Formats: sequence, C-alpha cells, structure tokens
Amino acid sequence: MTKDIHDTESPTRRNFIKAGMVAGVGALLSPLLVKTAQAAAEAAPAAAAATPPAGAPKLKIGDVLRVAREKLYPICRVCPECDGVACAGEVPGMGGIGSGQAFKNNYNTLNRIDLVMRTFHDVKKPDLTTTLFGQKLSMPVTSAVTGGVSYNMGNKMTEEEYVISILGGCQDAGTIGWVADGIGDQMDVFERRIAVLKQQFGGRAIVTIKPKTNEEIIKRFRMVEEAGGIAVAIDIDSAGRAARAVPGQTVEPKTPKQLAELAKSTSLPFIIKGIMTVEEAKIAVDIGAKGIAVSNHGGRVLDYTPATATVLPAIAEAVKGRAVILVDGAVRRGQDVLKYLAMGADVCLCGRPLVRGAHGGGREGVALMMNIIKDELTVAMTLTGVPSARNVPANVITREQA
Ligand SMILES: Cc1cc2nc3c(=O)[nH]c(=O)nc-3n(C[C@H](O)[C@H](O)[C@H](O)COP(=O)(O)O)c2cc1C
Repeated sequence: MTKDIHDTESPTRRNFIKAGMVAGVGALLSPLLVKTAQAAAEAAPAAAAATPPAGAPKLKIGDVLRVAREKLYPICRVCPECDGVACAGEVPGMGGIGSGQAFKNNYNTLNRIDLVMRTFHDVKKPDLTTTLFGQKLSMPVTSAVTGGVSYNMGNKMTEEEYVISILGGCQDAGTIGWVADGIGDQMDVFERRIAVLKQQFGGRAIVTIKPKTNEEIIKRFRMVEEAGGIAVAIDIDSAGRAARAVPGQTVEPKTPKQLAELAKSTSLPFIIKGIMTVEEAKIAVDIGAKGIAVSNHGGRVLDYTPATATVLPAIAEAVKGRAVILVDGAVRRGQDVLKYLAMGADVCLCGRPLVRGAHGGGREGVALMMNIIKDELTVAMTLTGVPSARNVPANVITREQA
C-alpha cells in the first residue's frame, strides 16, 4: 500500500512544518530561503516527463512533494492541506479568486462530510472500475483541466512535458486526463498540446476549449476530432475573463441556442464544464450535452460561489442517467471521491494535486498521486461496504450538523 499523501507524520511533512512553510506562513520565509528553493528548482532537470527506465527506484511521495515545492514556490507552497488558504487571491497562480472563499468552500464543505463505516458485509475487493465515453477506467477519477504552465505555474516545465506528465501519469494509473486551452494562450500553444495528444496518446483525452466565439471553438473541435479525442468540453465558467483573453480573441457567456449549436457541431460527446445550478444542468442535457461537469473552476472564476458539494446532490437528482455527471473541487483523497459518488457523481476530476505530481515527478509523479487516491478509495469502499464505484448509495455519507 502506498503512503498517504496527507500523512503528517512523514519526514517531509514534519520538515515542511518545522521550516515554517505551513499554509499562510510561507510568504514570511526569508528571501535567502526562497532563493535557495528557486536555485534548487532551476538546477533540477526539467521534470521527468518520460516513463522511468525499468528497474529504476520507485518515486516516493515525500520526494515528489519536496521537488514540487522547490519548483513551484512561491506560486504554490505545496501546503500540507491544499485548502486555498495560503494562495487566496492568487489567480493567475494556483489559488482561488479574490478572497479565495470559493476555493475554501469546496475544501471545507467536502471536509465536513463524514463517511459511515460499515464492516458487517462481504465486500473484500471492491470494484473501482467504470466506463467514461467508451473508455474503461481503473477508477472513477480523471485529471481535471489545468492549463497555464507559463502564467499559472511559473514556467517550470514545457507545455509538452506538462501534457505528457498529466496524460501519461493518468494513463499509467489506468485512467485518462484532460487537455486545457488556456485563456491567455495563442493558437500555437493549443496546437502543441494537440500534437502531443495525437502523437503520444492516440488522442486518448478529453479536451476543453474556452468559451470563445462558436467559430473559434468549432475550429478547435475539428482539431480534436482529427487527433482522435475522446470528448470535447467547454469551460463556460471562464466567460467572465474576457480581459485576460489574448488580443483578437474573446470569451463570452453562451445562450442555450449557441450551446446547442456547439453540441451539434461535433461528432464527439460534448461536455459543459462549470454547471452550478439544477436549471442549467437541465438545459445542458436538453441541448444535447452528453456530460456536465459540476464545477466552480476550483474557485478561480467567481468569488463566493458555493462548494460543488453543496450543489451536486440536487443537480444529480435532476439529471442522473441523462448525462454523465462529472464533478471537481478539492478532490485530495480517495475518501473525497467516495463522498462525491455518494452525492450522485459518476466521475471525479482531480486538479491541484496533479499539478504537484507533474512538477515533483513528471509522469511518474502524477501516476503516484492517482494510485494513492485509488488505494484510499479501495479502503474507503471496503470500510463502508460499497461493492462497486458505479453504484454508491447515498447513505455512505453523513453531513455534520451545524
Ligand atoms: C492552475 C490551474 C489551471 C486551471 N486551468 C483550467 C483551464 O484551463 N480550464 C478549465 O476548465 N479549468 C481549469 N482549472 C480548473 C480545474 O479544471 C478544476 O475545475 C479545479 O482545479 C478543481 O479543483 P481542485 O484543483 O481543487 O481539485 C484550472 C485550475 C488550476 C488550479
């Protein structure tokens, strides 16, 4: 069994805390320490995006987190708990927008949901597998969409290294990843990502496009179709960020008619990411979306949005079975996945932990993160008596009374 990524007893964790780099205190580090961390990051070879040679020693989670911290600090402090406190307001960057409350809502609300332990049953080996748009997954977890290697993550990896790390790590853990379309990216950056997707992964990923004009989106859909992509998505919740779009481009909210045009324009399953209400979930399904992603973009687009764990149950009740229900927001552990499944999600997306994995250990680092979540989910399902991740009963969770 792999070591818990949140194990506060691990030597790395203890050192981290001792060094005073706990959430919110990282910024107080002496300039000298910061310089040392930066120098170490620069001296480190570009993240090992490639598969390690056979027989190479296996990566340890403590090392992945240490290297990630060296590379990403101060953009990401790689806090013991990735809860949105230290990085509040840091967008671009790794945080939540404004006060950071929307990010914190995701984390805190999910954290306040408890699991109901049941051990009088015969579930010894729970079945974690599921199918997403025809793809068999080893567990109901994929990467989330994380773009902006340059403006969000400090340019410590190339676009190619990052895409290989995320998609390769997910593939090695038996699941799939998503490819982004950053708001500040020129077309050539998107083309580079799609080239890696096609050449190295035979298109096996879901590709998200910003809510540009429909004409621009459809142009990119064609590229994804040509690359053999699994599905296309639009992160409609980026609609308020026109000021950050590259010159000559824009992002915009869409009417149901415009969304229907997008759904019809592609042969691939169409997903709308950024659904936070029952009303829009129903419209999304009605206009032909094959999937919805319940998401507030990791709290990065509109301050004070509720947690996805708050809105998910009603949305799932309204559209379950009519479209695939994806969800993201503070998935940090396998237990978080089980909670979201009990609230009606089909598949969960994991964001910031994989940014750490990619920077701390490339493809292997991402696979390690995913495999730890898988191990945690296996234990959580065993100890709650859930035989299959495809059918998780609601009585597995209980909400703390206020
Ligand atoms: C650095 C970073 C970049 C992101 N870029 C995108 C993006 O380009 N498109 C998108 O739809 N979502 C993007 N997201 C949001 C994620 O897809 C996801 O909704 C969110 O990160 C999930 O929360 P978590 O990071 O707490 O797991 C980004 C998130 C982060 C942290």
